[in-house]
Amino acid sequence: MRRSRALLLVVAAAAAALLPACSSGSPSTLQPRGPAAQRIDGLWWFMFWIALGVFAVVIGMLLFGLFRRRKSGESVARGGGERAVVLLGIVAPAIILTTLFVVSLRDLNALSAPAKSDAMTVSVIGHDWWWEVRYPQRHVVTANEIHIPTGTQVLLHLSTGDVIHSFWVPQLSEKTDMIPGKTNRMLLEADRPGIYRGQCAEFCGLEHARMSFLVIAEPPSQFQTWLAGESQPIGSVTGAAAQGKRVFLTSTCVSCHTIQGTNADATDGPDLTHFGSRRTIAANSVANTPGNLAAWIEDPQGIKPGALMPPAVVEPRQLQALVTFLEGLK
Ligand code: CUA
Repeated sequence: MRRSRALLLVVAAAAAALLPACSSGSPSTLQPRGPAAQRIDGLWWFMFWIALGVFAVVIGMLLFGLFRRRKSGESVARGGGERAVVLLGIVAPAIILTTLFVVSLRDLNALSAPAKSDAMTVSVIGHDWWWEVRYPQRHVVTANEIHIPTGTQVLLHLSTGDVIHSFWVPQLSEKTDMIPGKTNRMLLEADRPGIYRGQCAEFCGLEHARMSFLVIAEPPSQFQTWLAGESQPIGSVTGAAAQGKRVFLTSTCVSCHTIQGTNADATDGPDLTHFGSRRTIAANSVANTPGNLAAWIEDPQGIKPGALMPPAVVEPRQLQALVTFLEGLK
C-alpha cells in the first residue's frame, strides 16, 4: 500500500512539473488558426484518444493480474488465454494501426490538395539564418515577415539559397522542407487576424534556433494597403536620415543589402526597403528598436553568434544617423 501511495505521489509531481510547460506563450499545434492546422490538430487528438484507450486497457490488465488473488486449488492455466492473445495481441493492433494509417493518408492527401484558382502566390527562400519573402505579382521583396490576407489561400513556393531548411508555422500549417535545387509547395491560410510565429524546423547550422519569422495575417483590405506600400521605393530623406543614407551607401552595408530607390541592389542579405516597418531584427531575434538596431549593426555576433553579417565600422555619430535612416524606412 505504501509503495502504491509513493508511486501516486511521483506521478502527481511529474504531472505538476509538466503542465506549466503546456501553457507558455510558444506557438502550439494544438491551438490551430487555419484549415491545415485544424486537420493536423484533429489527427493528433484522434491518435491521442486511441493511444490513451490502449494504455488504459494495458494498465488495467496489468493491475488485474497483479492484484487478483488466485483461489486456492485454482490451476495456473485456464481456458481462453490463447484467444485473448490472438484478439488483443494481433486482431486489435491490426485494426487500430490500419485505421490510423488510413486516417493519416486521408489527411496527408487533403494537405497536398491543389491550390484554389484564386490563391495568392508567395515565394519564401531560406538562407543561413533568415527568410527572404517575395510577392512576385507586385515585385515586393521583404524578409522574416510574411503578410497574408485572412481567409485566403496562399500558395507558398519554398526553396533555399544554401542548405536544407524547413518551413513551419505550428498554428497554421504542416512542416515543409526547403531543399537545394528543388521548389516545394505548401498552402498557408489563416482564419483570423493575428501574428503567428514560425520557425525553421531542420537543423541548418549554428543559428538554426534563431531562424524564426512571423506570419502576419490581416483582413484583406489591410493586406492590400500593406502590399501597395511595400511596392513603393523609398522617398527623399532629409537631415539625420539623409546623412544616414550617405553612410549606408558608402559603407559595407551596400555590398549585401538592397534599398529600392537607391543604388543599393545587392541580394546577399535581407532587402531593407521597408525595414522600419518590421517588428524584429535578425530573423525574430530581437525587437526592432533603435537601441537594438545600433547594437546589431556594431556587433552582430553579440546578438546572434555565427550570423554572417560583418560588423559595420562607423563612428558613433554616423551610427546614430544610420539608425535614424533605417528606422525611418516605413
Ligand atoms: Cu534553417 Cu534550421
